[in-house]
Amino acid sequence: MQTLHQIAELRERLQQARLDGKRIGLVPTMGNLHRGHLELVNEARRHTEVVVVTIFVNPLQFGENEDLDSYPRTLEQDQARLGTVGCDYLFVPSETEMYPRGRGNQTIVEVPELSDMHCGSTRPGHFRGVTTVVSKLFGIVQPDVAFFGRKDYQQLLVISRMTADLCMPIEIHGVPIVRDERGLALSSRNGYLSEAELAVAPTLNRVLHETADAIGAGECDYDRLTAEGVRQLEAAGFRRDYLRIVRRDDLLPAGPDDKALVILGAAYLGAARLIDNLEVDR
Ligand code: PAJ
Repeated sequence: MQTLHQIAELRERLQQARLDGKRIGLVPTMGNLHRGHLELVNEARRHTEVVVVTIFVNPLQFGENEDLDSYPRTLEQDQARLGTVGCDYLFVPSETEMYPRGRGNQTIVEVPELSDMHCGSTRPGHFRGVTTVVSKLFGIVQPDVAFFGRKDYQQLLVISRMTADLCMPIEIHGVPIVRDERGLALSSRNGYLSEAELAVAPTLNRVLHETADAIGAGECDYDRLTAEGVRQLEAAGFRRDYLRIVRRDDLLPAGPDDKALVILGAAYLGAARLIDNLEVDR
């Protein structure tokens, strides 16, 4: 695995691979890699011949009072982990490499409706930052396939929509959520949790499952179900963000006739904001 910091040198390497007819896979990350990220790399390895992982803590997607400064930066450990899976190139650009004109970076990429709901309404501007940086990474790497986790369900949908709307010749591949043995979705932000909070954190996933079981048993009063879920989360020590039962294709509130659903949950625990989701078929 080679670690590269400059766009020009990465492009040069990839140009040769492309001439050799190799398919390029891209796994964008913000680092502090865990098994969830590594599963994306494994999946990329299974589907493409050259695998590029990027690590860039993108300031554009963090709100004013969010954790940009404290976000864990663990490059050496990340390099060691990537060495155990099939990554060919690790791209770690500086902020000036990605945004040479700083705040003068005029072009933004935005998928308004999908980006404004759910996590986007709690974190205004977040998805605009994500779609802008991912567009740039797509322009730099020009991958055949890009891999994103289903943990960030709304992010995956926003990026799929962006790629389709802008006719980008890139396949977007969603990878299942990797969890710990108690059901907690792995996340770099779990590192903010104390031992006591870690013991409580799997409640988020348990509430999603109980909600899904109730839907499976025929319950159609989604407002009642989500209110009950929020009550359980708060009783366990979470602070509420949202819990919603929505349609998988457009993330709008599900009605009794909708079949392909996803339950989206976000809640604060100590210093962390945790998200999780569960797809349900009726
Ligand atoms: P980051 O949070 O580092 O996540 C990078 C990728 O790993 C995302 O596609 C995310 O969905 C996936 N991922 C994280 N935890 C996972 C888990 N437990 N199971 C499966 N996949 C998981 O998401 C971002 O970075 C950024 O927004 C980014 C797309 C890199 C743009 O800056």
